[in-house]
Amino acid sequence: MTSLGISVEDREGVRHVVLDRPDKKNALTVAMYAALGDAIASAQHDGVGAILLEARGETFTAGNDLRDFLEQPPHGDDAPVFRFLLGLVRTDVPVIAAVRGAAVGIGTTMLLHCDLVYASPTAKFKVPFVDLGLVPEAASSVLLPRRIGRARAGAALYLGETIGAEQAHADGIVTKIVADDALDAEADAAARAIAAKPREAVRETKRLVTYDRDEIASAIARESAAFRARLASDEARAAMSAFFERGARK
Ligand code: COA
Repeated sequence: MTSLGISVEDREGVRHVVLDRPDKKNALTVAMYAALGDAIASAQHDGVGAILLEARGETFTAGNDLRDFLEQPPHGDDAPVFRFLLGLVRTDVPVIAAVRGAAVGIGTTMLLHCDLVYASPTAKFKVPFVDLGLVPEAASSVLLPRRIGRARAGAALYLGETIGAEQAHADGIVTKIVADDALDAEADAAARAIAAKPREAVRETKRLVTYDRDEIASAIARESAAFRARLASDEARAAMSAFFERGARK
């Protein structure tokens, strides 16, 4: 099934969820979050053994669609982006990601909720929230320092430094680096292998690994209040508008 930039297909117990808006570098719109939220929330009851997050084209995702942020920012905690994120936090189904090219903003922070992340050498991770006048989201204010240490997270969050594939692997953001032409097959094989294992043991393992779901959901709620306030700020609106002015000049 394809809906407005997201395609979803179940094969051999694996739900393939594909970011499919390559002309806009897979920037995520409200409609795409809604489709992502549905695909993840329903997986548990649809007999899916693993979810594989993939992307079409050379960019994993340029993060949130900045025009959407300017024109239809999320207003409440029930916005599709938060339903998607909370679905990721609460699903008992393991989530595997295959990443090539840039993973910007939520493109990186969603990976902190994945169980395995395969990346091509072209993968690069960037959380430029501060440069956009924004704050971290998807519980990355908690998860990124916890994962890579506060000092390294500081370079990513405050300086907006890009984390390359090798560094992300060393930092424990990435499970394994795989040659670009083998990436999809390797991520798919991992997802199929998990889907073929004893289902309840897999799900119970995921529940144990994600024992801190409530804490993570609280972090998302805390960040979302700050994020929504920031979106309305002059700082953020000027920074986001500047992206499109840059585009017009190209
Ligand atoms: N929101 C909306 N549109 C976006 C977008 C975004 N986040 N990222 C890219 N696009 C659009 C561009 O406007 C452009 O559209 P156009 O062809 O109609 O002009 C198209 O996608 C291609 O983008 P472009 O910037 O030309 O591609 P690139 O290969 O030079 O750079 C990126 C790719 C991802 C590095 C760059 O697009 C980028 O930095 N995007 C913004 C990332 C960001 O700040 N995200 C928000 C994080 S919270």
